[in-house]
Amino acid sequence: MQRVKTAIIGCGSISNIYMQSFTNGKFSIIELVACSDMDEARMRQSAEAFGIRAMTLDEILEDGSIELVVNLTTPAAHYPITKRALLVGKHVFSEKMIAVELEEGAELVALANEKGLHLGVAPDTFLGASVQTAKHIVDKGLIGTPVSCRASVSRNYGIYGEFLPHLYKKGAGIGFDMGGYYLAALAAILGPIQRVSAFTAISGQQRVNTRIGAPMFEQEYELEVPNVITAAMQYESGVLGTLHMNADSIIDERTNLEIYGTDGILIMGDPNVFGTPVYLQKTNSAPVAFPLTHGFAENSRGLGAAEMAWSIRAGRNHRASKEMALHVFETMHGIMTSAESGATHVMQSTFSTPAALPEGYIGDGGWTRKEESALI
Ligand SMILES: NC(=O)c1ccc[n+]([C@@H]2O[C@H](COP(=O)([O-])OP(=O)(O)OC[C@H]3O[C@@H](n4cnc5c(N)ncnc54)[C@H](O)[C@@H]3O)[C@@H](O)[C@H]2O)c1
Repeated sequence: MQRVKTAIIGCGSISNIYMQSFTNGKFSIIELVACSDMDEARMRQSAEAFGIRAMTLDEILEDGSIELVVNLTTPAAHYPITKRALLVGKHVFSEKMIAVELEEGAELVALANEKGLHLGVAPDTFLGASVQTAKHIVDKGLIGTPVSCRASVSRNYGIYGEFLPHLYKKGAGIGFDMGGYYLAALAAILGPIQRVSAFTAISGQQRVNTRIGAPMFEQEYELEVPNVITAAMQYESGVLGTLHMNADSIIDERTNLEIYGTDGILIMGDPNVFGTPVYLQKTNSAPVAFPLTHGFAENSRGLGAAEMAWSIRAGRNHRASKEMALHVFETMHGIMTSAESGATHVMQSTFSTPAALPEGYIGDGGWTRKEESALI
């Protein structure tokens, strides 16, 4: 099978794990040949560390041998870079979210369709052992019929945001930065949402950067987007759910993700990581840890792009689909507009729930060999 020549745009914090997995043989379908960043020093450092070429974005777009662009830039650059790459005929896998404005996201989906190109969007953690095991539990009927779900994340954003200022800007905030993990994990199991209704707030809007070593240390800054969110969701299946997010938490992080069914309760792991334990609780019993049925329990960021690369070669749809990503993106936009207007947001987009990954894959060796026959 011919490997997919790939270039990464954006050599920041998250790029390291992608570059590692694309060069150490973990995802052999990807042949990482180049990287690019508007910060030249960063670009050269990454290129040297991983033995790949440092190229400008223009050079990458003009190079006909590069088939796939992996967009790891900050959210404001997702739309323009993804659009340029699609326009010159390249497949794109983008970090979350797909864009900043909802219309931009819809435009990218339409453009990829028009061009017949694959467009995939993170998070790809839903393809990991934890969420795939949770999906297995629901698909096998072990909690009966899902009735309701509850997702909650509290995070001290100062720890991250004062080093990564894009987290406080439009396009991020806890809603767009973290919401995707929870909504995508639920989407992969429960399918599309019909309506959302929400309240949001900004807690502590004016701040001073207190992180020693941060570029903006001791400077004043302002939160541009809500950091406290509560939302109610009605899924097409009839499941009712709540989402609670608080980025002004005193603790580093507390997460909770549960699906309540007629015959059991599924207590999921943290959807921001690949392999946290999953628990099943039945009537009159305590929660019991369920053996992970799927592979990729370790940090496997890049899995979504690799699965997409296999799909390109196999000529089938990939799982971290642009349609699901747009739906998740619209859900968070719907939450924001509902909070502003006081009205319920009726979802316009929909998607087909991605098929579960085959069970038991423990890495590239097993996964990629079986991939062709098992997943088509
Ligand atoms: N940091 C994390 O732990 C993490 C985890 C999961 C996902 N992500 C996602 O990954 C993406 C990047 O996040 P990050 O934390 O690596 O950010 P970062 O700020 O550390 O890195 C982003 C890089 O993109 C470059 N860049 C920005 N605009 C560009 C442009 N127009 N052209 C070329 N280069 C450009 C910046 O110079 C920077 O090096 C975001 O979408 C984020 O949501 C981050």
